[in-house]
Amino acid sequence: MTKIREQTPDIRFDYNNMMADIIGPEQGITDVELRSMRNAAIEAHSYVRLNRGTGMMGWTELPYNQDDVVADILATAKAIRRRADAFVVLGIGGSALGPMAVFQALCHLRHNELSKRQRKAPKFYVEDNVDPERMASLMDILDLDNTVFNVITKSGSTSETMSQYLIIMKMLKERYGDKVSEHIVATTDREKGNLIKIAKKEGLKTFYIPDGVGGRFSEMCPVGLLPAAVLGIDIRELLRGAMLMDRRIRRSDFKLNPALTAAALQYLAIKKGKNISVMMPYADSLKLMADWYCQLWGESLGKAVDLNGNTVYAGQTPVKALGVTDQHSQIQLYTEGPFDKVVTFIAVEKYRAEVKIPGGAEEYPNVSFLSGHTLNELISAEMEATEYALTKNHRMNSKIIMPVVNANSVGQLLAFFMYETAYLGAMLNINTFNQPGVEEGKNATYALLGRAGYEEKKAELDSKPAKREDYII
Ligand code: PA5
Repeated sequence: MTKIREQTPDIRFDYNNMMADIIGPEQGITDVELRSMRNAAIEAHSYVRLNRGTGMMGWTELPYNQDDVVADILATAKAIRRRADAFVVLGIGGSALGPMAVFQALCHLRHNELSKRQRKAPKFYVEDNVDPERMASLMDILDLDNTVFNVITKSGSTSETMSQYLIIMKMLKERYGDKVSEHIVATTDREKGNLIKIAKKEGLKTFYIPDGVGGRFSEMCPVGLLPAAVLGIDIRELLRGAMLMDRRIRRSDFKLNPALTAAALQYLAIKKGKNISVMMPYADSLKLMADWYCQLWGESLGKAVDLNGNTVYAGQTPVKALGVTDQHSQIQLYTEGPFDKVVTFIAVEKYRAEVKIPGGAEEYPNVSFLSGHTLNELISAEMEATEYALTKNHRMNSKIIMPVVNANSVGQLLAFFMYETAYLGAMLNINTFNQPGVEEGKNATYALLGRAGYEEKKAELDSKPAKREDYII
């Protein structure tokens, strides 16, 4: 009998609570305002459509053009799963946040604490910092013989990643001599940077980050796909989900294109002084998706100049929150503080577990009312209640509804955010795909640590105004 694949429904975008007829005319967006975005939306849509697959928009084609790479990834992942008990990503920013978000979304929430038999995949670590204590603590827990590392860097020169690489490589060489290649895989640009040269010299298995795919848009290429496959995640389904969203965003009518509508609403929200975008999933599995979103939104849209060279200081500050946890820390501010935020909830309709709340305090009605319900009902009620409180206080909020969290819906969600970002960048007339502010910091680090070619930058740093002692107390 052929097994029929259960179809994952589309994720949905509910923007009721962005609108004036729901949250009131002072803070909300009117129908007329939304309709006034029609031309800007059509322009943004055609910008993205015409540029897809070119320049730094190579990421749009990833769901379609990687069949051979996927086959290689699956074969490599199978071999790693067979031999390794830990898989460690060395990377930062776009080379780390996607793998972390997808791991958290699609693996058991306590994956590393499960037994090997329960896990059916190696433990997973993403080392996206150079805190020496963290690196030292990793060394304390790893069993090198059973560990495979994946060093990921598009530029092949990021100080954090390359330092980690050097530390790990030294250890591997000391222990395994010329057999190091069994313990480390590289993911980098095919030509540019130093990692590719080193990988060739060391004979490392290497996956390539395709042209036109920047760090924060790279989850659907080997950057994200190899770690996901090692973890046993269905990467073809992840790509299929992205493809599904891609079909929906082909519609130029912005009321039918969820990413375009979301971008138009955020554009209007920014015009109304909502300079902060809070991403608040009501699911621990999607907690790191908010981290990934923050990088995508912040690094893509935070730009000093527009494409015509005008100083614009564009952007909307992304903030991550987790429902219900942050109801007890941040929601007070969101409900009663300045009118400068848009909150986007991510709701899950069907969680992968159901937990009943038992009886046990019958004589205390203020507690016993909980009995007989489930945690599923409680978390959903709390989200509805928070939505209500924000709405009642005239706060813009919207909701992305995930029918379930699986590889397909996560693929849809990632693609939704990437297209929303690309559309909003086009509406703001900025370069969505560069990161001069990040490069500035990278270059200053190279200069401070004495990299050749950065002498001028070092001189610039040395001539910065001296700090006053009396300001340090
Ligand atoms: O999105 C981006 O381009 C950045 O966040 C990069 O991913 C990050 O700086 C790491 O760069 P690289 O992959 O070159 O090491």
